[in-house]
Amino acid sequence: MSPVVSGFSKLSKSDKIKWLVEHHFNNDQNTVDILKTYWNSDDKLQQLHDEFTENTISNYYLPFSVAPNFLINGERYTIPMAIEESSVVAAASKAAKFWQNRGGFKAEVLSTVKVGQVHFTYTGDTEKLKTFFHSIKSELIASTSHITKNMEKRGGGIVDIELRDKSSEIENYYQLHCTFGTADAMGANFINSCLEQFADFLTKAASNYNDFSEAEKNIEIIMSILSNYVPECLVRAYVSCPVNDLPKVGELSSLQYAEKFVRAVQIAKVEPYRAVTHNKGIMNGIDAVVLATGNDFRAIEAGAHAYASKDGKYTSLTDAKIEDDIFHFSIQIPLALGTVGGLTSLHPLVKLALHLLGNPNAKKLMEITAVAGLAQNFGAINSLITTGIQQGHMKMHLMNILNQFQATNEEKEQLVDYFKTNTVTHSEVVQQIEKLRR
Ligand code: MEV
Repeated sequence: MSPVVSGFSKLSKSDKIKWLVEHHFNNDQNTVDILKTYWNSDDKLQQLHDEFTENTISNYYLPFSVAPNFLINGERYTIPMAIEESSVVAAASKAAKFWQNRGGFKAEVLSTVKVGQVHFTYTGDTEKLKTFFHSIKSELIASTSHITKNMEKRGGGIVDIELRDKSSEIENYYQLHCTFGTADAMGANFINSCLEQFADFLTKAASNYNDFSEAEKNIEIIMSILSNYVPECLVRAYVSCPVNDLPKVGELSSLQYAEKFVRAVQIAKVEPYRAVTHNKGIMNGIDAVVLATGNDFRAIEAGAHAYASKDGKYTSLTDAKIEDDIFHFSIQIPLALGTVGGLTSLHPLVKLALHLLGNPNAKKLMEITAVAGLAQNFGAINSLITTGIQQGHMKMHLMNILNQFQATNEEKEQLVDYFKTNTVTHSEVVQQIEKLRR
């Protein structure tokens, strides 16, 4: 069991490691070495990473990869992806190559509205609360002018504030449901600062409102926080091509391929067990771009899955159909992304990733990210309905298994060659390594 420690965050990095190794690793020096191996030799860069969060003792690396050949709205992109899963980048690159000769991907942002709420308790007459709210609404908005000034210059700001009566669900529960535009910022800090200001203004104004009884004057703020459910910060990406331009694979004609593809998406539309995995595959592509560009993948994940259940049943985020011999495949997904603020100007690799994408604005990044998700889903379904997922996956996983066995470069070369024509399974790889080493 981990011992209780107080003042841990105040210890120096070496003392934190010393404590950790003493209490959890039996004073093993190798543990210290592993942690230190991942320190950056550039002290300044390391300090930057140390200061991102509390109690940093090392860095946790993810591969930073690129997927070239993406044609999006007629422009060519090489997409940065931070992800550890073996076959994801390969699948994205393959899908990009396939669609670049078929008109490429198209994408459009449908809306960019973000939401935040002040949740509060009010005990009294709802009609009086409504009258009060309408009487203070413009002052409520004006009270944030010191926060909104800069955002307004950049094209964002407060869109609206609504009073919502939720007292039929929880006694005396009401909300200020607030909508925002945040231009090229993800906007969490901006939204939360506005909300806290609204909350403050609301309680003060209520306590001075003459028409309220003493109980009504006493509004209690429960919390003020942005929502990661952003169904109105929405982007759509799509591809289409004549059915005849789709692959012929083995026994499958292009038409049979298209029909099987559409059927696979239909299954994810109606069957939640499949939909979750289907969407997980989409998020492989989306999260990788979100991480590489310094955005918050937990927020994106939460919002995407909530959106997938918006009609009361969890379903696929993509759609596919055949119409007049044309195959159509599309995604619609909420993506509250930013290209300024947060990590975007702090993390050197994030800056590099954004540069690689031509320093896009937030809308463009939404389009690129949605395309990465669609491409990933195309790659996954393509494999699933033809060879199965394991063939490509295990080919990419081969290197992980070889590394587990500390294969030398020569061994790797020979075994990669061997598995070009043989099926990769864990046991077969082990057997072949042993054979080589005998
Ligand atoms: C694996 O990370 C993702 C897939 O399972 C997605 C899918 O099944 O569509 C291959």
